Amino acid sequence: MEKLLINGGNPLEGEVRISGAKNSVLPILAASLLCEDNLVIGNVPHLQDVTTTISLLTEMGANLSIDERMNVSVNAASVKNFYAPYEMVKTMRASILVLGPLLAHFGEAKVSLPGGCAIGSRPVNLHIDGLKAMGASIKVEDGYIFAKAKKLKGARISLPIATVTGTENLMMAAALATGKTIIKNAAKEPEIIDLANCLRLMGANIKGDGTPEITVEGVKELKGCNYDVLPDRIETATFLVAAAITKGKLTLTHTRPDTIKIIIDKLKKAGADIAIKNDIINIEVKSQLNSVNITTNPYPDFPTDMQAQFIALNSIAKGKSKVTESVFENRFMHVQELVRMGANIDVNGNIATIQGVKSLKGAPVMATDLRASASLILAGLVAEGDTVVDRIYHIDRGYECIEEKLTKLGANIKRLP
Ligand code: UD1
Repeated sequence: MEKLLINGGNPLEGEVRISGAKNSVLPILAASLLCEDNLVIGNVPHLQDVTTTISLLTEMGANLSIDERMNVSVNAASVKNFYAPYEMVKTMRASILVLGPLLAHFGEAKVSLPGGCAIGSRPVNLHIDGLKAMGASIKVEDGYIFAKAKKLKGARISLPIATVTGTENLMMAAALATGKTIIKNAAKEPEIIDLANCLRLMGANIKGDGTPEITVEGVKELKGCNYDVLPDRIETATFLVAAAITKGKLTLTHTRPDTIKIIIDKLKKAGADIAIKNDIINIEVKSQLNSVNITTNPYPDFPTDMQAQFIALNSIAKGKSKVTESVFENRFMHVQELVRMGANIDVNGNIATIQGVKSLKGAPVMATDLRASASLILAGLVAEGDTVVDRIYHIDRGYECIEEKLTKLGANIKRLP
């Protein structure tokens, strides 16, 4: 199993180009199942989750090609196998995103239940309930969701929780349903708007994305289009924390500062100098930061996908802080690893209390999920001595060329076989 070896202490300096968003490209790849033309997707990040989705679509019978600029062209006209097996879904929960499109376009789907994961039970009941409300007949048997529908019908769906992939699944299904669908308490994440923008270019009639009420007027068919995915706000925010934690000076390009307002506010509050111009963010940190309190919640509040990285930041910031995780039930697996590096953190239920320490010490640590890996790498960048992060495959699911990008900025990091 591959590991990352980091020798901490170098301040990061230089320029880094932000990649396309993982959480946008995955639903947009799934949206290719809604039409029989080429959907050509640009700004596709080179990630393990993208490779997994491409394999899934290929197994289903779709034709895929990738050009030298990493534009991915998908044609789902030849899809004959409406099946997402457990082996794929267990490695990437976002495989559930094929459920809505398969059902809407081909009238059937067999998709494995994702099961639990390192950050909680993460059920998909709301995806299923929403599709049932649109007239699908769905049974769950032997760990699989079996779904059928001659033609989905528009429905009024009120989500008890603003689920991100749930909203995306329902929006895609509704795009080809008969009549109007209203999704209340919809998720408002920028990736929802990105998917809606792509679906609109494909001919869908969607309004209200980015607000709690999305209205979709179903159309008979969708066509192909060319679409560039949004820059990754979590990668952006992770590099900002990398600059902050190492007292560095970075320029982040090709990003969307408007999608991470709350992160920028928190970093400014902690003492970072941040300047924004169009799609560029400059950050400089000259002295030790102050710690900041955080509560994760759906967008536009603080993203749960940045909680682990901010715990790393608070670990070596001045003062005491509280980090409350309100989205997932079990998302503090990184804490005990950070404690092994000398952090002073106490977890009680969904609240972590962090007393900042002067320095962290390198240690062998284990990554448990994607964002936990990012937090351990950040801690390794600032720790004294060597940190070895094990189970690094998690990081490749969601960060493009992380060690190349960090090395270019002056970090001492290498991959061990
Ligand atoms: C998406 C993101 C993930 C991010 C998360 C929260 C993608 C591919 N992944 O995950 O990076 O951490 O949003 O911002 O976009 N829930 C239910 N029943 C359901 C669905 C969800 O109870 O049917 C609960 C979940 O257990 C969780 C909460 O709703 O507590 C939010 O989860 P959700 O928004 O669905 O997360 P994902 O879409 O899986």
